[in-house]
Amino acid sequence: MSNKAWGGRFKKPLDPRVVKFNASISFDNILYEFDIIGSQTHAKMLARQGLISNSEAESICEALSEIQDEIRTCSHVFDESCEDIHMFIEQLLTQKIGDVGKKLHTGRSRNDQVALDLRLYARDAGGKTKESLQSLLLVLEELAQSHKDDKMPGYTHLQQAQPIYLGAYFGAYISMFRRDLNRLDDWAERMNFSPLGAGALAGSSLPLDRGWVAKTLGFNGPIENTIDAVSDRDYVIEFCSLASIVLMHLSRLSEDLILWATQEFHFLTLDDGFSTGSSLMPNKKNPDVLELIRGKSGRVFGHLMGILTTMKGLPLAYNKDMQEDKESFFDTVNTLLSCLDIIAPFLKSINFHTDMMEKNARSGFLNATQVLESLVLKGIPFREAHHQVGIWVAEALDKGVTLDEVIE
Ligand code: ARG
Repeated sequence: MSNKAWGGRFKKPLDPRVVKFNASISFDNILYEFDIIGSQTHAKMLARQGLISNSEAESICEALSEIQDEIRTCSHVFDESCEDIHMFIEQLLTQKIGDVGKKLHTGRSRNDQVALDLRLYARDAGGKTKESLQSLLLVLEELAQSHKDDKMPGYTHLQQAQPIYLGAYFGAYISMFRRDLNRLDDWAERMNFSPLGAGALAGSSLPLDRGWVAKTLGFNGPIENTIDAVSDRDYVIEFCSLASIVLMHLSRLSEDLILWATQEFHFLTLDDGFSTGSSLMPNKKNPDVLELIRGKSGRVFGHLMGILTTMKGLPLAYNKDMQEDKESFFDTVNTLLSCLDIIAPFLKSINFHTDMMEKNARSGFLNATQVLESLVLKGIPFREAHHQVGIWVAEALDKGVTLDEVIE
């Protein structure tokens, strides 16, 4: 079959191996809802501008809604000969309504079409990420409040350093995830512009109304420069970057919880519903969820490097390389949401051993800095006081007693 979208200037059909290699429908089919709403808006704009009739726009919109229902209920097999979801839907449309369907692509290229679909997808993903981050923050806020007076040892270099409150520990993560939320809001504001009407790269000689399309689809406006509109994937890179930071935070949190769940620390007990056993060792209880979050973060960092590398050498404007933006972006979104959505109930399920934490906060020499500061308040120069307390610590270690017992 010669390709209907460009077949005119070709003398033979595409080699079947190229058809397979070129196709993106196996992964870009998830864009179908966004493609359909984009096309319906485009058709309405064409009618408003007198480029197609109102009844033509209506029949296009109705048929597209039917196609949407059909895809939702899995009535179609995604056909690789259609290359991508955009051409697949257009083919279904012309099968349904004949020649009128062929008018839909007026003033449009797949370059601005895919740019629009991906932005709509990204905006939706951003909204879901925001909700998940907010739910996690609620859980952390509850934990910070309920453990605000529970002491535990604080660590630097993973050596006991000074006593802190478990509530303050959660407070640190609240600060981090609030910054993540902030980054997400910034991103959402910056990316919310419509590429539609940019055509292949140079716009169109037809009287399109880019502003109306942008407004109708909830964008702040059209992307003014049409070359930028079809070339830009900054918002994908930025999302992968902010997702990487969120996952880096989640991974660090997971690491602490994994340590705290060890027999050696024994600062917490994992809930049976959120931990796993060993097929061999009956004694084992494993923090798989936390380990998976820590592990998945690596995959998302890799996606960030992947998309940066794909984009870095591309001449303006669209290049087919950009089809490679999707799988890693979709996986970033899915991975991020799955981690955020499991860590919130996971945190709620943990049984923290605050008595054990308190005991550890009191044992050893975690009060050394406090003793030092009390000497400073008595007028002893800091360096001298530091040296003196150091001598007391060494003496206490030799005698196997606490710092308080040496000082008395
Ligand atoms: N499937 C393509 C992609 O994801 C759509 C755009 C194709 N444009 C083109 N000029 N071949 O990038």
